[in-house]
Amino acid sequence: MADLQLVVLKTVNDGPIDDTAIKFPDIETNTMQGTLSSLAARSMIVFKPIELEVWTLTPEAEEIVEKGSHEIRLLDEVIKNLDGLKIADVGKVLGSAGKLGQQRAFKNGWVKKEGDRLVANVSDKPVDETAADLKAVKETGTLSNALELNELRKRKLLIKGKKVSYKVEKGPEFALEIKKLETDLTPEMVASGSWKTQTFKPYNFEAEGALTPSGALHPLNKVREEFRQIFFAMGFTEMPTNQYVESGFWNFDTLFVPQQHPARDLQDTFYIKDPIEADEPEDKTYWENIHKVHETGAFGSIGYRYPWSAKESRRLVLRTHTTAVSSRMLHQLAADPKPARFFSIDRVFRNEAVDATHLAEFHQIEGVIAGDDITLGDLIGFMDRFFKRMGVDKLRFKPAYNPYTEPSMEIFAWHAGLNKWIEIGNSGMFRPEMLESMGLPKTLRVHGFGLSLERPTMIKYGLSNIRDLLGHKVNLEFIESNPAVRLDETLV
Ligand code: PHE
Repeated sequence: MADLQLVVLKTVNDGPIDDTAIKFPDIETNTMQGTLSSLAARSMIVFKPIELEVWTLTPEAEEIVEKGSHEIRLLDEVIKNLDGLKIADVGKVLGSAGKLGQQRAFKNGWVKKEGDRLVANVSDKPVDETAADLKAVKETGTLSNALELNELRKRKLLIKGKKVSYKVEKGPEFALEIKKLETDLTPEMVASGSWKTQTFKPYNFEAEGALTPSGALHPLNKVREEFRQIFFAMGFTEMPTNQYVESGFWNFDTLFVPQQHPARDLQDTFYIKDPIEADEPEDKTYWENIHKVHETGAFGSIGYRYPWSAKESRRLVLRTHTTAVSSRMLHQLAADPKPARFFSIDRVFRNEAVDATHLAEFHQIEGVIAGDDITLGDLIGFMDRFFKRMGVDKLRFKPAYNPYTEPSMEIFAWHAGLNKWIEIGNSGMFRPEMLESMGLPKTLRVHGFGLSLERPTMIKYGLSNIRDLLGHKVNLEFIESNPAVRLDETLV
C-alpha cells in the first residue's frame, strides 16, 4: 500500500516556494516515479524519493477507535450493573468483543470474579490506552512508542504500509511547459541554423541499447576450432569429412572389422534404405585384397576365415566413426607412401538409446599419424604432447581392443576438477591387415586415435546432460551467451 505525496520543499534558485505537501492519492507510484524521472531527464527538476513506513488500522482497530477497546467496553458494562455482569451474559452484551475484552480486562486487573459474576476492581475508570494509541496511529500513521506499536501489530490491529514522498526541486532547465526535445540533428537544421534555438535531448550514456540480432558460434564449434588450431600447429592436414554416408567397405571392411562383428548389427549402425548399396571402389586390387584378408588371410595374417560377402560390403551406412575417412585417406597415401599427419573433427552416427550422455549422433576428433618405423612409444609420446596443449598433463593408457589396431589403448586423463581419471579416447597402431591391403609398405607404420568432441565440451561448459548441448532442447540463450574457450586451460 503506498500513499503518494509530492513534497515541494524548496526551489533551487529562489528559496522555498511552498512546503505544503501536494497529495496525489490517485496516482500509482510507478506513474509518479516515471513522470518525475522524465522531467528530471530534461533537467527540469531534481528529485529524491523519501519512503516512510506508515501503519493503517484494521477494521477491528477502526471499531476500537470508534467504540473504545473491548476491555473498556467490558468494564463499562460491569460498572453499569451495580451487582456486576453475569459471566454467562458477556457474549450476549458485547458480542464478539466480549471474550477478548474479558481476557484483557482481567489481565489489566480491571475486573475480578465474584461467584458467577464479574465486578469492577478499580475505583476510577482507567484510560483506554489501546483506543488512544490506535487513534494516534490513525492520525499520524505511526506511534512514538515502538513497543506499543509492536504490541498493536501483534494483536493484528495494524497493517504496515508505505508512503512514498518525493522531495522535488527546480532543475537548471526548470520551466512550466515541457519543450519539445529534438533527438536528431538533421541536415536541414544545420542548413537553416535552427539548431541554435532547438533543445536537444541529452545523450543517455547509461542506455544499454537494443541487442543486435546476430548469429552465434555453437560451443561445439568453438571447441572444435581450438582443436583444429592445435592439430594445425602440430603439422596435421584436415581430412575431408563431408560425406556422412559410407559403404560398409570403407566404414568396416577396410578396417578389418569382420562382417559378423556386433558393431555392424542393426542395433548399432544405421543402414540406408535407398539406395541400399554403393558401387564397388575403383581400386579392384584393394577390393580383392580386403576380400582375401578377411576370408583366407593375406600379408602374413591368417584372416578371419569366413565367406566374405561383397553385398554386405556394398551396403550403405551412416558412418559410425571418422576412421572410415582415415581409411580413405590412407588408401590415397598408398599411391605415394610417405610420413603424413591427418585429422578430422566431424559428425558420426550410432544407433544408440538416447540418454543424458549419449545421442544417436556425436562428433569425433580423429588423428592419424603415418611415419617410418614409428612405434607404440611414439604414439604415447605424441598423446602426451597433444594433451599437454589442452592443459592435461597426466595421462594413463589401458590396453583395449579394436579390430583395426593392435596394440590398442584407451586413453585416460586425470581431471583435477572432478578429482578422478576419466576416459577420453581410444587409440592404437593400425594393423598390417588394414595397411598392407591398401598397398602401404611394411615400414610405414600408422597410428591413430579418436576422441569425442562432446565430452571435453560438456566438461568445459559444466553441462551434465548432452541434450543441453545438442538437439531441440538446447536453450538458445546458452548458445548465444557462452564464453569463448581456450584449450590451454584445463579442458578435460
Ligand atoms: N574409431 C575409434 C572409435 O570410434 C577411435 C580410433 C581411431 C581408435 C583410430 C584407434 C585408431 O572410438
